[in-house]
Amino acid sequence: MKIAISADHGGYRLKNEIVPFLQEQGHEVVDFGCDCNVSVDYPDYAMPVCDLVAEGKADRGILICGTGIGMSIAANKRAGIRCALVSDTFSAHATRDHNDTNVLALGERVLGPGLALDIVKIWLETPFSNGERHVNRISKVMEIEKRYIKGE
Ligand code: RB5
Repeated sequence: MKIAISADHGGYRLKNEIVPFLQEQGHEVVDFGCDCNVSVDYPDYAMPVCDLVAEGKADRGILICGTGIGMSIAANKRAGIRCALVSDTFSAHATRDHNDTNVLALGERVLGPGLALDIVKIWLETPFSNGERHVNRISKVMEIEKRYIKGE
């Protein structure tokens, strides 16, 4: 898969563990930074990843900040993005199976690197169920996006 990734200053250390992990698994990684602890604003780093995913130029996106919360809020404002903030392996599986999420948000200050890498692996490997009820619910979410985010 082609995976876009970014972090703010609260998440770049975890990003720098996830990037080689993804490459070892054979994924192509597009890394939008940041790479040091100079304070930056998470929306500025969320958007390049979300743009690539929404435009179909990357298969998935991964966003990391201190909590994962800011990144997930910003990502879900972008049309075409379904981002889940995940801190456990059950949710990593469920959010692919049920929600067909295309962006994963993680909190470096919340997770140890071992759990974070397990979450990433499960989230990447779990297919969407295509279950009728889940497709229907996602369609309703996309209708909300059309009405309130895209103003259609
Ligand atoms: C930065 O201090 C922190 O606010 C940010 O990384 C993130 O946790 C915001 O949601």
